[in-house]
Amino acid sequence: MIDKTLMDSLLAEARKAADTAYAPYSKFRVGAAILCEDGSVVTGCNVENRSFGMTICAERNAVTTAVSGGKLAFKALAISTPDSVEPVGPCGACRQVLSEFMPPDTPVRFAGTGADQVNTTIGELLPWDSLHDLKKQA
Ligand code: THU
Repeated sequence: MIDKTLMDSLLAEARKAADTAYAPYSKFRVGAAILCEDGSVVTGCNVENRSFGMTICAERNAVTTAVSGGKLAFKALAISTPDSVEPVGPCGACRQVLSEFMPPDTPVRFAGTGADQVNTTIGELLPWDSLHDLKKQA
């Protein structure tokens, strides 16, 4: 169980990360913050490309940065979309990538600028994940 205050500060880190977004095409900034098992926080922002399909989402950026830094165990995730009032959840591709490193019970919070915040889990974002235990079966 993750402390509410911890999720508040993780969301604040995600909000800060959104300020570094490179989003000249969509003008839609996204920031993601991952709380690692060792207590450190790794962030990511979306990085767009004029060849739109090459755009990298904030969530995948945060995950690959963390893994590149030798971190593989994560406790929580927060996502901030300061250009929307309503909370905007991670895209399908990000849900798949996040689930590679985060167990189904990992808490996830996402929020826009409004009062509504979504508190959910990786398992709720990617249900019926039949391949989740593939590594263990090898
Ligand atoms: N985006 C993310 O960074 N994460 C998501 O999960 C959804 C979409 C970015 C991609 C693009 O730069 C912008 O938001 C608009 O889709």
